[in-house]
Amino acid sequence: MRFEIWSKAIATLDVDCLVVGVFEEGQLTGEARDLDSACGGRLRKLLARGDFQGKAAETLLIADLPGIGATRVLLAGLGPRKSFGRKIWRKAWTSAVVALSKTAVKSVALALTRPDAKELDDYYFGRAVAEIARAALYRINDLKSGKKPRSAPLERVLAGPVEKSAAAAVNRGLTHGAAIADACKVHRDLANLPGNVCTPTFLAQEARVLAKRHRSLRVRVLDEPAIRREKMGCLLAVAQGSAQPPRFIVIEHAGSGKSRSAPPVVLVGKGVTFDTGGVSLKPPPAMDEMKFDMSGAAAVIAALTLAAALDLPLRVIGLVAAVENMPDGNAVKPGDIATSASGQTVEILNTDAEGRLILCDALHYARRLRPAAVVDVATLTGACVIALGHHHSAAMGNDQALVAELVEAGVRADDRAWPLPVTEEYAEQLKSNFADFANVAGRDGGAITAAAFLGKFTQGMKWAHLDVAGTAFLGGAQKGSTGRPTPLLADFLIRRAGL
Ligand code: BES
Ligand code: MN
Ligand code: ZN
Repeated sequence: MRFEIWSKAIATLDVDCLVVGVFEEGQLTGEARDLDSACGGRLRKLLARGDFQGKAAETLLIADLPGIGATRVLLAGLGPRKSFGRKIWRKAWTSAVVALSKTAVKSVALALTRPDAKELDDYYFGRAVAEIARAALYRINDLKSGKKPRSAPLERVLAGPVEKSAAAAVNRGLTHGAAIADACKVHRDLANLPGNVCTPTFLAQEARVLAKRHRSLRVRVLDEPAIRREKMGCLLAVAQGSAQPPRFIVIEHAGSGKSRSAPPVVLVGKGVTFDTGGVSLKPPPAMDEMKFDMSGAAAVIAALTLAAALDLPLRVIGLVAAVENMPDGNAVKPGDIATSASGQTVEILNTDAEGRLILCDALHYARRLRPAAVVDVATLTGACVIALGHHHSAAMGNDQALVAELVEAGVRADDRAWPLPVTEEYAEQLKSNFADFANVAGRDGGAITAAAFLGKFTQGMKWAHLDVAGTAFLGGAQKGSTGRPTPLLADFLIRRAGL
């Protein structure tokens, strides 16, 4: 799908369809008014008949209006004028693309009223147009045996109206938005795969395949003996109950020019390809959703492909700890003690708190890279879902500026995160009689004590942690990966790169 801009004379645009906004009061927006006068007042007549209410996300396709270049017009409801803003605009554009995906329309010009520039400036306007268009057409890479429904023919999207002075910013936004959507697809495709396909070995292989498509990416995969040489005892303790061997994946985007030798941004992803809980077995309801427990890894791999696709002048290194958490005769047991790569010992009181065990060894590995910042991404705790629900990811860490940077990136990317406090008291709950500390600290404040555990391995580094347990996937009828927090990470990296 290609993206362009249009600037004036909506009635003469040579496209298959125009998307035009209508408020709930039946008022025509600026662009709709131009169109209405070009076609002799037909739009007004149609609205007067009450065929279209203008409710947010409502759409109506009209064909063959006289006097205009486009063969069709899609009306898109914008809701009441007073509550119109970026959120409703996103919703309207999403439903317009979904409606068009069911037609033969190949080219479309977007002529929705734009939200206030304070809410959506030229760059983010372009970005949202492209990101939403591609995301709305995303189809789950399912393994259904029937014939695949044909994919939407939509090929060309014209964003506008865009004045000359804004063209550069909008075009830059369109390029970035398309790349973010592509990265989200990489993420979602990986996360939606079942656990019997997407194993640690598969994840490492996919990282290699993706890296081949981008010149700037280098991949190194540590197999089990190499992981052993790294003394990643906590990661190995999780892996030992599975027939699937673990993998530790290192992906580097070198950056360009001066950035090549600068301290890198290191992204660390939890890649539990299936989390049964281990010997501390999870209950059956919804256990299948634990195939999404590698969403952090998927986000990190996706973010690296984005850095490469946009050729970001920023050194970025992704670290993915990939394991399967299973119970078997060789599995780690409650009370077992593992020695982490950092030398600190951990009493594993609950084998279902496995994410922190693989991340602590990955975070220790990050130290040798002398990072400018380390951000880990993990579906880490059910407690995070209890605390924040499904709208915000949790942002924590030992550097408030870095946490704030991520929160702000989430606001701009419409992929929000909310801070939780990781003060010293929480780490005290991890006390153990037998090892340096335990891997769990009771139910209370579970998202934070998990972060406090990670904090034992990140001292001296600028570190932040995103718990995406509530945001990375949807359950129920909508079951599937959301691709979050890939948009947040994308915004973070684009800003860090100074683009
Ligand atoms: N992968 C889970 C967390 C999770 C729960 C992610 C729900 C997405 C949705 C994690 O490994 C886990 O099991 N955490 C335990 C920790 C507890 C034993 C301290 C949890 O949250 O129950
Ligand atoms: Mn678990
Ligand atoms: Zn898990």
